[in-house]
Amino acid sequence: MTRTLGTCWYPEHWPEAMWAGDAARMADLGLTWVRIGEFAWSKLEPQPGRFDWGWLDRAVDILTAAGLRVVMGTPSATPPRWMLDRHPDMLAVDAEGRPRGFGSRRHYCFSHAGYREEAARMAGHMAKRYGDRVAAWQTDNEYGCHDTVLSYSDAARDAFRDWLRHRYQTPEALNAAWGNVFWSMDYADWTEIDLPHLTVTEPNPSHALAFRRFSSDQVIRWNAAQVEAIRAHSDAPISHNYMGRVTEFDHHALGRQMEIATWDSYPLGFLLDRVPGGDRAAYLRQGDPDFQAFHHDLYRGVSPRWWVMEQQPGPVNWAPWNPAPLPGMVRLWTWEAFAHGAECVSWFRWRQFPHAQEQQHAGLRRPDDGPGHGWAEAEQVAAELHDAPDVSPVQAPVALIFDYASQWAWEVQPQGAGFDHFALAFDLYRALRSLGLSIDILPPDTANLDGYALVLVPGLLSLADPLRAAIGAAPGVVLTGPRTDLKTRDLGIPQALGPDLPGLDATSVMEETFPPDAARPLRTGGHATLWLEHLETGAEIVEATADGTPALIRAGNRAHFATWPDPLAARRILRDLAQDAGLVTHDLPKGLRLRDTGTERFVFNYAAEARAFDGEDVPPAGVLRRPRPS
Ligand code: GAL
Repeated sequence: MTRTLGTCWYPEHWPEAMWAGDAARMADLGLTWVRIGEFAWSKLEPQPGRFDWGWLDRAVDILTAAGLRVVMGTPSATPPRWMLDRHPDMLAVDAEGRPRGFGSRRHYCFSHAGYREEAARMAGHMAKRYGDRVAAWQTDNEYGCHDTVLSYSDAARDAFRDWLRHRYQTPEALNAAWGNVFWSMDYADWTEIDLPHLTVTEPNPSHALAFRRFSSDQVIRWNAAQVEAIRAHSDAPISHNYMGRVTEFDHHALGRQMEIATWDSYPLGFLLDRVPGGDRAAYLRQGDPDFQAFHHDLYRGVSPRWWVMEQQPGPVNWAPWNPAPLPGMVRLWTWEAFAHGAECVSWFRWRQFPHAQEQQHAGLRRPDDGPGHGWAEAEQVAAELHDAPDVSPVQAPVALIFDYASQWAWEVQPQGAGFDHFALAFDLYRALRSLGLSIDILPPDTANLDGYALVLVPGLLSLADPLRAAIGAAPGVVLTGPRTDLKTRDLGIPQALGPDLPGLDATSVMEETFPPDAARPLRTGGHATLWLEHLETGAEIVEATADGTPALIRAGNRAHFATWPDPLAARRILRDLAQDAGLVTHDLPKGLRLRDTGTERFVFNYAAEARAFDGEDVPPAGVLRRPRPS
């Protein structure tokens, strides 16, 4: 696989006289890919059925003549104003029952069949026109961004009723699965079932989780319509650009529809906006050392190929504060993505646009077309890529299972404030990274764990049969818990109490939670935080709280966390398990991270000071690329 670079370009924002110069400069910089089109609906179809393709034809001509490859985006994230006159009820509705307004983007409800057809119609027109001239497609833009998956519209309510009918067959079966006898919530007919909002106190968690599963399925159905429309006219691979810590739909299920998973990486915006446990003082201008890596590893497992579609080249505009990257970081982020297997890293955007919502968002070029903050580093990476050999993807020694449905389940029923599947998986991932390990993040229907020395299965609502069997057959060390396999898929408690873990005799007879200032010391150091399942077990008790409650149990190469360990305990426990599994671990200094490909070892320094690794100095924001140790 050849590593390539790209950018996101908006010809509709600039005078046509600039286009050829832009394309020539992109090619000179060493870019391969240019994404266009994804917000341009009002320019392409200014009035219903009246198209203006001429400008996009010319833009595609100019790019391809310069030797660049086009990723064409479908513009469904930005329905033009006239669309609302045709479909006044297409807007998503928030949990308080208010329709969302026109004047930004993503103002549609995934359940609105009329707008879904309009979006597929537009994708079909574009595919027909450009199907054999573009090298890849992108559907829509960042599903779920700006909190847009859940909608409480009439269209969503009607579709939810259909979805429930299909899933449960009869209201009686639904009542039984959800336990609706409690508080007299039984339904006699599908038309009685509303969306789970505006209730006096909490709705039934089974009802709420069903709505979350349904809402995810609506995104998948929505995307399928565009994929089908594109495939009718084009053989080019199809992608979608995912976001950081957007978990409202099942990316694994969506990714199966397409060839390429891409994502949009804004390390400084993320640190100030959404990183669990982020250290702002240490990493304000570098971004979190693990957050981008987590998403690289997650999205690599979503479709056969993966890219970074948008990468920050300077300050963004949307976080509470928007610092500039420390010199070296634009390069470091790019190499980190390549180290995790990215085929392409593409900067967002080519040139800063002096108007509208993102006028403060840096591009590779300034608004006056001078070189932006990240330009020189983009040139440096492009030059370095010239000498970098092609690489082939390789399996990591450690696997971590991530499950979107478990994220929804624990949002619906945290039981202790802060119980969050993403944050739990990320905490453990961070501990693994601090030990110098490379990780694959896998879906919950993984059926084969061969080749992994260590596998983590934290906080899974329930284990699907293929995964349970894979855990049973796994040759490596498998660590489950906390809160793994304690529920039914409908979010009830199973008749035989869980967890049901092959190779481990353990039953949780009670689960308790406690606030952060009441974390319980572990006998061997560190703390049990937030969650403690009280296990009846015949397994060895490896770690216990001060009062003797098991915190980590083990039988052979199967282990289980009964608690959410703090970073100190997580690092110690994972180091011991990794070493038992035959892995070499490192005690990396703060800010230093490793990542191995099949042939290379990368060392990244996220610290603002120099660090040492293996006798070598790594400067602040520095990257070392060495042969992979055998
Ligand atoms: C992304 C989005 C882009 C742009 C960018 C700004 O989330 O896909 O269209 O808004 O953020 O950082």
